Amino acid sequence: MGRLLRRFWHPVALSRDLAAGEARPLRVLSEDLTLYRGKSGAPYLIGGHCAHRCTVMHTGVIEDEQIRCMYHGWRYDGEGLCTDIPAEKRERLNKPRIAGYPVHEYAGLVFTYLGEAPAPAFDLPRKDVLESPARHIFAKREVWDCNWFQQVENSMDAVHLSFAHLWGVAGQFGLRISGGGEIPDLAYAETSSGVRQVATRSNGNVRTSDWTFPNNNHVVAAGPNKDDPWAHISAWPVPVDDTHTMRFTLYSVEESDPAKLAALEAGYDLDYDPANHAETLFRGELAGISEPGLVSAQDYVAVAGQGAITDRSRENLSSSDAGVVFLRRVFLRELESIRLNQPTKSWARLTEALHLPAPPARAAQ
Ligand code: FES
Ligand SMILES: [Fe+2]
Repeated sequence: MGRLLRRFWHPVALSRDLAAGEARPLRVLSEDLTLYRGKSGAPYLIGGHCAHRCTVMHTGVIEDEQIRCMYHGWRYDGEGLCTDIPAEKRERLNKPRIAGYPVHEYAGLVFTYLGEAPAPAFDLPRKDVLESPARHIFAKREVWDCNWFQQVENSMDAVHLSFAHLWGVAGQFGLRISGGGEIPDLAYAETSSGVRQVATRSNGNVRTSDWTFPNNNHVVAAGPNKDDPWAHISAWPVPVDDTHTMRFTLYSVEESDPAKLAALEAGYDLDYDPANHAETLFRGELAGISEPGLVSAQDYVAVAGQGAITDRSRENLSSSDAGVVFLRRVFLRELESIRLNQPTKSWARLTEALHLPAPPARAAQ
């Protein structure tokens, strides 16, 4: 699975969390790395440990676009090549090297490609609603203490909306989509970019979501307050390691009024991470959480409740798991190609416009 995931661009940090001249440790796909910004503001991602005697690199000193280890001063460029060894008296024929990966900033996130060169074009993560000048994007990062694939499976499970998102506190999202608990008819189809999920409930309440291989879900969901417009949401669970996951969520809203944007930002409560409140959430105490945080908290309880890595041999799947089964078959097909050293599918961004309507308002009353 790691070999498969390393064929794609993944978000690994919020752009706003890293100022020019700063470095941070970063663990992704079980690999320890160093993310830093040069003095110009450009981000770089290199190995987590110095090639000399292996101390961490994020304590290093940024020099223009390079970083110098704090221990004995070895300096590295943004591709991980050692460019200076101050105390060396011999001529070294081969310059030491640590890992170095390409990075690309997009929509408030730092993305990287951790696979073999050359990196694919930065195409699959792009969405029109993340690039429209008429829209504003709020970006959020959470870290959950469970396996990333449980979170991917959850996004392909439209039935949980009628239960998990009414649990504890019934918010706008759960109420309006499920109409108060109605079970949808499910349909799944593979597309050029991933899987399209259509969940149909009565009164024209058809919920479509476009999921992009291997880990991005694009849906619409309620804003923080009852009258706020529904936001486009693009969300990625990215493995830190087998039992921890960074979750990046972008909320794209059609709004430009600074006062309204400030109110929305407060409502989105971007620092809220349900994993920091596990004890109270598992007791069912969900009162007072913002609407977007509530959706996240309900998903967290369901998915982290399966365990750090759920044992799927104990499951008893039913008709409601059609999406989970569909998704697993797609992954198993791709993993089999990897195992046989055969080409995997060439996933490509959808070219037709996405139409993900908000549900009818009637159930909100
Ligand atoms: S450990 Fe980095 S320079 Fe010695
Ligand atoms: Fe959910």
